[in-house]
Amino acid sequence: MSDLNKDLILTYKVIQQSPNDLLNFLEQYQKNYNQTEQEKRNDLFLAVRKHFNLQRFEINYKKLSDNWISRAAQFIFLNKTCFNGLFRLNSKGEFNVPYGKYKTAMIFDEPNILAVSKVLQNAEIHYADYSNCFDKVDENTFVYFDPPYRPISQTASFTTYTGTEFKDREQLQLAQFFRKLDREKGAKLMLSNSDPKNENPEDDFFEKAFEDYHIFSVSASRAVNCNGEKRGKINELLITNYQYEPQTLAINF
Ligand SMILES: C[S@@+](CC[C@H](N)C(=O)[O-])C[C@H]1O[C@@H](n2cnc3c(N)ncnc32)[C@H](O)[C@@H]1O
Repeated sequence: MSDLNKDLILTYKVIQQSPNDLLNFLEQYQKNYNQTEQEKRNDLFLAVRKHFNLQRFEINYKKLSDNWISRAAQFIFLNKTCFNGLFRLNSKGEFNVPYGKYKTAMIFDEPNILAVSKVLQNAEIHYADYSNCFDKVDENTFVYFDPPYRPISQTASFTTYTGTEFKDREQLQLAQFFRKLDREKGAKLMLSNSDPKNENPEDDFFEKAFEDYHIFSVSASRAVNCNGEKRGKINELLITNYQYEPQTLAINF
């Protein structure tokens, strides 16, 4: 697994290696959140966000240590309580998504953390560009790409999670890499993205970029969407280099 979001990678490694320590922190965050009155929760959120942003200078992302655990807990807390579960950094590298005003938030999800930890036991987790997987892929590999969604409208123009942009040029570079893996490695490949036809039926960006591949539009209920009203009723694309039966799929991100 690889991603260019350092804190996401840190969090996956903590879930893999120290799920119970992480759960102790999350239980505390859950209690705090539940016991804080609705109108004071914004202050709680901002305090955690401030701590998360200050702590970034003290983290050694190369070596798992105790402060990774509290950071992973803060990352999950912020993810579960911020606006639409977005992750966005400003140019200084500070997480700047506002509070999401939720009545309830699932911060302490013990069965989920333990289940994810179990499936991650054999995983190699890297802070790396997606193209670094090239040498590890062979004809027995299944590769899933989950890139930043191409914005479906002018207003939903959120394309950066880490401070680096992921625009059409980057989407096309990824499509080229997909093609290269297909041709040179013969692996099974799957990529998901937003379906531009939600907004503009004429938009054939992905048909062009992934010509000759299988493209399915599937109904997905998105937990993350800049436009809150569109959550739960949006089509997404699944692109593969092999044939399968899309009607058997139900997707819930
Ligand atoms: C839709 S999110 C997927 C998140 C992830 N699959 C998860 O559920 O935890 C898109 C991800 O692409 C990552 N990303 C952007 N550019 C990348 C690159 N060049 N190489 C690897 N990951 C990248 C972002 O950091 C972001 O986490």
